[in-house]
Amino acid sequence: MSRLPVILSVFCHWALFTIPFYATAAEHKIEVSDFGKTSDGASVSRYVLINRQGVEAVVITYGATLVSLKVPDRAGKSADVVLGYDTLEGYEQGKSYFGGTIGRYGNRIAHGEFTLDGTTFHLPKNDGPNSLHGGTVGFNKRIWAGVDRSRADAEVLELSYTSAAGEEGYPGTLKVKVTYTLPAEANELRIDYTATTDKDTVINLTNHSYFNLSGDASREIVDHQLLLRAQQFTPVDATLIPTGELRAVRGTPFDFTKPAAIGERIHQDDEQLKFGKGYDHNWALERTKKVGLELAAEVLEPTSGRVLEVLTTEPGIQFYSGNFLDGTAKGKGGQLYAHRTGLCLETQHFPDSPNHPGFPSTVLKPGETYRSSTVLRFSTRK
Ligand code: GLA
Repeated sequence: MSRLPVILSVFCHWALFTIPFYATAAEHKIEVSDFGKTSDGASVSRYVLINRQGVEAVVITYGATLVSLKVPDRAGKSADVVLGYDTLEGYEQGKSYFGGTIGRYGNRIAHGEFTLDGTTFHLPKNDGPNSLHGGTVGFNKRIWAGVDRSRADAEVLELSYTSAAGEEGYPGTLKVKVTYTLPAEANELRIDYTATTDKDTVINLTNHSYFNLSGDASREIVDHQLLLRAQQFTPVDATLIPTGELRAVRGTPFDFTKPAAIGERIHQDDEQLKFGKGYDHNWALERTKKVGLELAAEVLEPTSGRVLEVLTTEPGIQFYSGNFLDGTAKGKGGQLYAHRTGLCLETQHFPDSPNHPGFPSTVLKPGETYRSSTVLRFSTRK
């Protein structure tokens, strides 16, 4: 008896189940390549995460940095909506924290000093009298180890870093993980942070992406419409350290409870706007539940129709309107990033919390696990 029908049937079954699998599997993927060597010879890798909806995220192991994020506009055309550099040298020399993972303590600690369990710790003062974004060599300037943990339904990149006890003045050996997840079908990038310590320490991790949802970084972000789900913000002194007050936003240029253009009130005669040279403040988010992700901010760019929703587990968000960009940073494609061509929405605990017992605590103890999650969700509007 001929074996042909059996062979044919086996082939047909193979083809039926295997070919469609490869056809769809090929549409979402993660690719790793070399991004060069740092000035002291360390190798840096570049991971490209792609989903089925036209979203592409690129992350490098230097600083666990998000270097590019391509999302579609209302016509389906994808463009890069974050600022950054083309080269590793750009990130090594850059002073603007483009896309970087910020730690051990995001934002400012007054006078570079805090006291924990009776000991006073001294941190590098790299922002006038204060310590900013983890000190002189923060997590955004460290080499992280990347591992592809992709699943059938998502591309997953896990990055780890161990911060030695005493690094930049902070106590305790801190083991940190940052995980970027791009679902195959949803237009959102999720960032999860976990950390453990062997000694009491303070921690406040965030991502410092600058968004320009127009996809054209030569344009200012002042026409972007912003909503912040916050009734209060933490006013600052002239060095951008919170005074400790929680102030109602109602009746001030800090009220974004209804969407408003960023540029609409930015030039008002307001002491807080003067201190920040625009917006550079922490808003205390309205939370309806104690745990889990909640909407913190929503941004609409009217020309492209792109919408970014930021969801977070954190109690605060730093909205920074790119006031220190001055056209000297030479970014992707040679673009000189001018004043207010990018905006940051840094999910966080409040700045200078270690010196404000009334603020939500940023202390991490041995045996505990620090957890923080943020989702950047993209859509479009007509
Ligand atoms: C944060 C700070 C700003 C500025 C930027 C980086 O958003 O709050 O004051 O330092 O980082 O330039």
